[in-house]
Amino acid sequence: MPGTSLRPLFTAQQIQKRIQEIGAQIDSDYPDGSLYLVCILKGACFFMADLARAIEREVVIDFMGISSYGRGKTASGAVKLTKDLDTTVEGADILLVEDIVDTGVTLNYLMNVLELRKPRSIRIAALLDKPDRRVRPVKVSYVGFQIPDEFVVGFGLDYAEQYRNLRDICVLDEPPAA
Ligand code: IMP
Ligand code: MG
Repeated sequence: MPGTSLRPLFTAQQIQKRIQEIGAQIDSDYPDGSLYLVCILKGACFFMADLARAIEREVVIDFMGISSYGRGKTASGAVKLTKDLDTTVEGADILLVEDIVDTGVTLNYLMNVLELRKPRSIRIAALLDKPDRRVRPVKVSYVGFQIPDEFVVGFGLDYAEQYRNLRDICVLDEPPAA
């Protein structure tokens, strides 16, 4: 994007190390049985692919699509389900896998939707957390990194669909206003 610059925040190596730690933590926290990983499209698919392989217990993977109106840096607050799970999750141990928790609107909505389906348990794993931005309460059980209120891209995270394939997580800096 013209005029913008990328400032590395976490390297690919730091991200992988943290994901291995979270995977081990998840393995030790859950009782025996299969874990139902739910990836929130699209940003979380890179995190989910690595997290699933950092977990040694049996996992099932599934996807949920969400559109939160607005394609730039801020969402409007309205959330719509664009793709639902493939199966029922009654009695399942669900782990919702998200790229970043910002205002909390998305995950607050999804938790409400999924709780109605009577899973045995439901927890959240998020690669990044921006706690300063929260407007809806969300309990995140596994966090990769807490970050300040800056807009980040890479490792799945986008700005207007760009930058998802960057290996590092970078802050997207705007040019100073003219
Ligand atoms: P929330 O509903 O405000 O918590 O927003 C969560 C969603 O907003 C994430 O899944 C991302 O798609 C997007 N988002 C929030 N902050 C960032 C960011 O810094 N970079 C890229 N996407 C972000
Ligand atoms: Mg997202």
